[in-house]
Amino acid sequence: MNKVEINQAKILLLSHEVVAIPTETVYGLAARIDSEAGLKKIFSTKERPFFDPLIVHVSSIEMAKTLTTHWNEMASQLAKAFWPGPLTIILPKSDIINPIITSGLEFVGIRMPRHKMTLELIEKLGTPLAAPSANKFKKTSPTKASHVYDEFRDEVAIIDGGDCQVGIESTVLQIFENEIVIYRPGDITAQMIEEVLKDPSIKIHYGKSPVAPGQLEEHYRPKAPVVLIDETTDLATLSMRLKEKEIPTTNALQWKLPDDASIVAREIYAKMREFSDQQASVIIFEMDSRFYQDEKWFGIINRLTKASSLNLSTL
Ligand code: TXA
Ligand code: MG
Repeated sequence: MNKVEINQAKILLLSHEVVAIPTETVYGLAARIDSEAGLKKIFSTKERPFFDPLIVHVSSIEMAKTLTTHWNEMASQLAKAFWPGPLTIILPKSDIINPIITSGLEFVGIRMPRHKMTLELIEKLGTPLAAPSANKFKKTSPTKASHVYDEFRDEVAIIDGGDCQVGIESTVLQIFENEIVIYRPGDITAQMIEEVLKDPSIKIHYGKSPVAPGQLEEHYRPKAPVVLIDETTDLATLSMRLKEKEIPTTNALQWKLPDDASIVAREIYAKMREFSDQQASVIIFEMDSRFYQDEKWFGIINRLTKASSLNLSTL
């Protein structure tokens, strides 16, 4: 594995290379926001289309303020409460944001990750890092350095910061005048945001981004097909539907999700990879139907739904 220390990573980034960085959510594939060559390399390495915008990672609130023309009270409250942490805030972009980062949109996603090594790297560079998850387009996100290596081999230098503690990508939201729209559910929930803002006149809700086609229906997919079921799923129906879809059951590997959403989030992507490596013909995740209405599970349900080829849960 092409492992690098923080100082070597800094040199690579200064020479317009990309480097895989650890965060608390998933590993990112980073380039400096002022390196057009580096930014383009992110897209080519990931085989990612240019219409999918990148999140910009900062090491301080001061740095975040330079990226937007509209840092406001709500942004300030959210950043103070949840940064460093798994929350991406979308705000109107300032001129220092290259349109490659935002796919030409006038808005930029900003977050301060909760990982010592990455914060130190950004601080030493003095420049924010644009970074999507360090996986090929539409594939499963990496939560260990070895996952990044499996994806890109020696093509990408990696800062090994251990296992990601949250395990699914950040909550992505956009701030409007009296409204917050959550485009991607994650560890930070609407209820947690409500408790911080303490202002009932601000409407907080989940919604689809009208402008970012990055939120594809098919995403996070491991090599083996994923099927989502719950305790009410009839096994005869399961068997029939798998046959219809031509998914073989010769090596069906199953995980009944434990009751703790934090544990499931931390382990779900590793399980997808582990089962694929064990040549699963199909991966079956069984989730308790009680969790469908529980906000703590929304992020997991979102990833599982997009990763699955067949959904037999009563979602
Ligand atoms: O936890 C995370 O957010 C990880 C780590 C590395 O920080 N990053 C990550 O990046 O998940 P990525 O590129 O895999 O997903 C970013 C998604 C985009 O696909 C898009 O849906 C949304 O965030 N996004 C980013 N910028 C946006 C913008 N300006 N407007 C709307 N959506 C945006
Ligand atoms: Mg991603």
